[in-house]
Amino acid sequence: MSEIDTSQFRIENEPYYKPVGNEVEQFAAAYDVRMPVMLKGPTGCGKSRFVEYMAWKLQRPLITVACNEDMTASDLIGRFLLDINGTKWQDGPLTIAARIGAICYLDEVVEARQDTTVVIHPLTDHRRQLPLEKKGEVVNAHPDFQVVISYNPGYQSMMKDLKQSTKQRFGAMSFDYPQAATEAEIVSHEAGIDLKTAERLVQVAERSRNLKGHGLDEGMSTRLLVYAGQLISQDIPAPAACQMALVEPLTDDPDMRDTLQAAVQTFFPEITDSSKVA
Ligand SMILES: Nc1ncnc2c1ncn2[C@@H]1O[C@H](COP(=O)(O)OP(=O)(O)O)[C@@H](O)[C@H]1O
Ligand SMILES: [Mg+2]
Repeated sequence: MSEIDTSQFRIENEPYYKPVGNEVEQFAAAYDVRMPVMLKGPTGCGKSRFVEYMAWKLQRPLITVACNEDMTASDLIGRFLLDINGTKWQDGPLTIAARIGAICYLDEVVEARQDTTVVIHPLTDHRRQLPLEKKGEVVNAHPDFQVVISYNPGYQSMMKDLKQSTKQRFGAMSFDYPQAATEAEIVSHEAGIDLKTAERLVQVAERSRNLKGHGLDEGMSTRLLVYAGQLISQDIPAPAACQMALVEPLTDDPDMRDTLQAAVQTFFPEITDSSKVA
């Protein structure tokens, strides 16, 4: 079998990650015993960034798979491909990760169908094996291999929940948007804007998060705050930046947009107030 070039999966430079609790120590402890880990939390709150940071810190290659409902078991495990010399087996990302001892991160795992998700079962219990049935091979996972999955508990329907038999193979960590002061520091760092402006963006977001379940499916994520900050750092006026990055992506409902625009105006009044511009 040809050697896999693992350097492509290495994270060379330390990713910027600001811890919000004991998550770094907890994840490291779980990794030490090769416990599979589930990261729960709303979209854009730092789960993927955390995994990148941990892979860097633990010096493991990271293979990320963005899950979707069209994904099949073969997309994870691998398949035979036809080429001019006949058929050739090609490992999927899960198989590569198991062979090289990578952290395999299945992002938004509930998006995958349950018959796809079950392929991780033999890798996430004492067996640590991956049977490649079509190829007639059983891959024994490399000692450094670990499975990490993420999902957003609020957002999916009961229909799309994970099976208990899947859930109960993981230690789980809950993520949420960081506390205001921490989040402002993150937004300021990521977007290259001053702390004061970042703090005001966070305040707008907090208003929107209180509307979750009252007309909004989700509040504004840290990711969106970073987008807004990036537009501001590109000299887009704050109200326009907030409209583009915070209001428009969140909702199409006219009343809800009015509410969110009012929140923007509250925290960026001096610029939004047209009477002062004139
Ligand atoms: N604790 C944190 N430290 C550093 N950056 C963070 C943190 N939390 C969120 N971010 C920022 O928010 C963005 C979105 O986070 P991400 O990890 O992609 O979210 P998720 O995977 O939870 O959907 C990141 O790109 C990063 O800029
Ligand atoms: Mg993510």
